Amino acid sequence: MFATPSTSGLNIDQVYEPAEDSFLFLDLLQEEVPFLQGRYEASVPLVLELGIGSGIVTTFFHNSILTNAMFLGSDVNPYACKAAKDTSKQNGSTQYFDVLRTDLWDGLRSGIVDVLLFNPPYVPNEIMPDYEESVKRDDWLDFALLGGADGMEITSIVLDRLGEILNPDGGIAYILFCRRNKPNEVARIMRDRGWTATLIGERTAGWEILSIYRFTRP
Ligand SMILES: C[S@@+](CC[C@H](N)C(=O)[O-])C[C@H]1O[C@@H](n2cnc3c(N)ncnc32)[C@H](O)[C@@H]1O
Repeated sequence: MFATPSTSGLNIDQVYEPAEDSFLFLDLLQEEVPFLQGRYEASVPLVLELGIGSGIVTTFFHNSILTNAMFLGSDVNPYACKAAKDTSKQNGSTQYFDVLRTDLWDGLRSGIVDVLLFNPPYVPNEIMPDYEESVKRDDWLDFALLGGADGMEITSIVLDRLGEILNPDGGIAYILFCRRNKPNEVARIMRDRGWTATLIGERTAGWEILSIYRFTRP
């Protein structure tokens, strides 16, 4: 059992407060330690967390899962970018960590990410948050949860372009789903596309069932 990073001082009116989905990530990543440490024993992987929020997942990852890695995070929410750096610092920091305020991985070269982590906005909703409106209101919290049709609008973009961002030599992705995202169906589609999709765990959280899949190239 590894220590959960502190996010004290986080302004939850501005940045997504770590919740069941974040903690499921932490718990399941612990179980992935043998797999990940075995895989990256002799190299320094680049880990990218999309939608880094408070930074709790990346901080946990660099403190407890793969201490020999380099880390990048991204978020559309400017307050999240700052909060993620603060969380890292508050919990001991890592030398190799930066955050980009960007849409997903815009601005990064293709094929450079060894491990991708994504706890996406997964709640089904008729409309997606409007960027210009968020700028005007300086309110970014809708981006944390609202996922459009089936809650899959952002996750589908990532899955469709996974081969573009991941290192062609063994890149892997951990992505969280809720039941209404139809994760079984998504995994089947990804397998049809030639990916290995492995359910690494699931948990009931209130009325929701959350799961995390690992996607690897064959
Ligand atoms: C469910 S929250 C997860 C936050 C954090 N990773 C955690 O597990 O606690 C989703 C995050 O994704 C960010 N986000 C949503 N759409 C994004 C996009 N297109 N590009 C980058 N970040 C995005 C949100 O601002 C939010 O911080």
